[in-house]
Amino acid sequence: MSFDIDQYAQTSSRIRWDDLDLTSFETQPLSEDALRCLSYMSDVETHTVCYLRDLLVTPSHADPEVTVFLTMWNLEEYWHGEVLDEILERHGVPTGPDRTKAVRSRLGWKDRLAPIRQSLLANIIGEDFIATHMAWGAINEWCAHSAYTRLIGSENHPVLTEILKRIAKQETRHVAFYNSQARDRLERSRKAQRIARFALNKAWGIVGSTIMPAPEVKHMLNYLYGGEEGLAEVRRIDAKIDALPGQHGLHLVEKELIKYGIIAA
Ligand SMILES: [Fe+2]
Ligand SMILES: [Fe+2]
Repeated sequence: MSFDIDQYAQTSSRIRWDDLDLTSFETQPLSEDALRCLSYMSDVETHTVCYLRDLLVTPSHADPEVTVFLTMWNLEEYWHGEVLDEILERHGVPTGPDRTKAVRSRLGWKDRLAPIRQSLLANIIGEDFIATHMAWGAINEWCAHSAYTRLIGSENHPVLTEILKRIAKQETRHVAFYNSQARDRLERSRKAQRIARFALNKAWGIVGSTIMPAPEVKHMLNYLYGGEEGLAEVRRIDAKIDALPGQHGLHLVEKELIKYGIIAA
């Protein structure tokens, strides 16, 4: 079934938390590991507008269905960052504009040139680039959904669980859009399949790894995916990637566990 973009745009909404008792974090605070992981997640969610900057200079900007989605997606991810910040603030962890500025400024000149590089590459490829963008998005959303679900399981805190469930529900809709787009576009074009496979193999990294320091990436992976159950979950994500036309056997997420020393090669 194809994704109903009008229905998505009409029902896109901010995550509610005014009905939840956030003072419970005072009597039942989260673990240090969970807070470090939530900081990572919040930084990545808040960075969405910068990812969007790099995508709007590609052929994706010419597709109205894609741009309607990206508009709402950007807002929803922003709100995810907002509610995560609220939890962090309750624990005295610094958030807000200063933190966001610091994340952006440490990226340096490579980040400033990123839209130019991305625009050149993507426009040379043309329409087929959109399939890579959509496949990339589907994989990142599978990872985001999985990460929130893993965090729910490891902390088992009633209010955190409810907030993360609400976020994960929106991530499910992001998955649905990207996956249906990626599937359709990859099925239509063998060339698009080859380009996506090449790009994912060469350049994909776990969500957040292009903006967060390596020790933070390693901590997040170890906390959420260390151990046998974590590895099984990572393999479930890789199996979803396998089902995208022309993308079988990439083992993208498991390779990240090896890269960051969570499991042996
Ligand atoms: Fe999100
Ligand atoms: Fe998302």
